[in-house]
Amino acid sequence: MQNRSLVSITDYNKEEYLEILRIAALLEGNPNRDILSGKVVGTLFFEPSTRTRLSFETAVQRLGGKVIGFADAGSSSVVKGETLKDTIRMVSNYVDLIIMRHPLEGSARYASEIATVPVINAGDGANQHPSQTLLDLYSIQKTQGTLENLNIFLIGDLKYGRTVHSLLMAMSHFNPTFYFISPGALKMPVEYKMFLHSKGIRFFEYPEFIDIICEADIIYMTRVQKERFSDPIEYEKNKNAYVLNRAILENTKPNVRVLHPLPRVNEIDVDVDDHPKAYYFTQALNGVFVRQAIIAEALDLTRHINV
Ligand code: CP
Repeated sequence: MQNRSLVSITDYNKEEYLEILRIAALLEGNPNRDILSGKVVGTLFFEPSTRTRLSFETAVQRLGGKVIGFADAGSSSVVKGETLKDTIRMVSNYVDLIIMRHPLEGSARYASEIATVPVINAGDGANQHPSQTLLDLYSIQKTQGTLENLNIFLIGDLKYGRTVHSLLMAMSHFNPTFYFISPGALKMPVEYKMFLHSKGIRFFEYPEFIDIICEADIIYMTRVQKERFSDPIEYEKNKNAYVLNRAILENTKPNVRVLHPLPRVNEIDVDVDDHPKAYYFTQALNGVFVRQAIIAEALDLTRHINV
């Protein structure tokens, strides 16, 4: 890879996805390796996060590196009016790698053009969340034994949910069939459907999933993204659109697994949490190993991970 930033899931090709998953599996076997000794990583989170920030920071620490950064833009000089451009220019002087979450779509690409070090996009508005996608691929491969020819159900907020946008693009390399289940106001945006058309990938759209859930290999639930609604009444109308519960899972294939990028609000009932088909907490754990692999790739250190 020329520019080792990871801004969009399309910055990697199919072989590179599979290489990240291979390295992540090695790291899962032994996550404590000293390959980041002497390196400093900056985590700049202009939006709230639990999993992404903490799993990236765990990943750095377990690889022997150090972390600086902020979890809240309110504690940075952004509140004094400093621009994103100046912030990135400054932080580039301090660190070897920047991991950034920002509410503006396109902000990660912009940052990568200014930074003198690689930038990893930890989520830019409703646009992309590529490290989440790679951990989703890892979770799908681990649970299904393959990424090829799967029936993937994407359920919930398909308009604002950046994780489903990145996942759709990545999975398009593996001949999936997609089932999009969303309220009318939160449908998959047309540009992503056109992308699937251009790749010859099948997809179906439904307002409900109960009668077709028996077809699923992966059930990928998403939260209705309250923070992206300009009209609170629209959010109230859609917030309880779907709730997956244990009874619904009765009518599913043995291999099906329930994924969710988390945080969950109420779209998966807690009675699913200890069901053998629930995988979302393990999925979040997988994020540490996959993010270790992404960091190693960004810093050109994967050759040190052989076993
Ligand atoms: N999945 C995810 O991005 O979670 P956080 O918002 O907690 O980082």
